Amino acid sequence: MTGHPKTIFVLTGAGVSAESGLGTFRDRGGLWARFDPMKLATPEAYAADPDTVLDFYDHRRRGVVAAEPNAAHRALARAEARCAARGGRLFLCTQNVDDLHERAGSRAVTHMHGELLKARCCACGAVTPWRADLSRADDCPACGASGRMRPDVVWFGEMPMHLDAIEAALAAADLFVAVGTSGAVYPAAGYVRQARSLGIPTCEINLEPSDNADAFDEARYGPASEALPRYLADLGL
Ligand code: APR
Repeated sequence: MTGHPKTIFVLTGAGVSAESGLGTFRDRGGLWARFDPMKLATPEAYAADPDTVLDFYDHRRRGVVAAEPNAAHRALARAEARCAARGGRLFLCTQNVDDLHERAGSRAVTHMHGELLKARCCACGAVTPWRADLSRADDCPACGASGRMRPDVVWFGEMPMHLDAIEAALAAADLFVAVGTSGAVYPAAGYVRQARSLGIPTCEINLEPSDNADAFDEARYGPASEALPRYLADLGL
């Protein structure tokens, strides 16, 4: 790659929102250290005990609404605009279900694990923006079905979203950057090796080496709010 990359694929994970106060999943004291994902983040758990599952997501949704984007989110929003200004594209694929990328100014965000500030009707499939608590007392605004609403997030055992668009963007990239992700969950964790197989340079930006660290050509370790703006500045973004 000569000069600055034009088409950048950025994959973000919980680490990019950590400094905004939203917990990660697998760090010490992380969400899955305190709660059992199999009892809270699967379709079976929702079918067996919807109130407990909905309550768990109410707590997380309140945290998202109260959180603010941090310098890492803002740096990505700036980079998206600068990339476009020079005729390129920054494809932002996030595993996060918060809206901090959007609130920092990113205009195109692909949420492969869905969005916590949206609710989906299990009866008609309609997806509705949803910032309040969600319970079985809530009716679907589209079809009126009662007690059938769930968070519009991807649970374990379900298909992630937008996979075709993600694969197409990855194939077209001339740089792959992963930020704040442990590389523990597929298919996202497989993207770096897919990029390598396509000859695309790869960089990991994380607090510490991820499970995939050996697959990256380059790495910058430190808090995303510091390491990411510095890295993007080095790219002229
Ligand atoms: N700056 C940069 N990286 C950080 C920071 C920070 N301030 N704080 C933590 N990290 C790193 C951790 O070192 C870890 O490698 O962020 C990563 C977070 O990893 P996980 O908690 O596993 O989160 P993530 O990779 O996004 O999980 C993927 O798993 O449970 C599912 O759906 C859930 O989307 C999630 C997916």
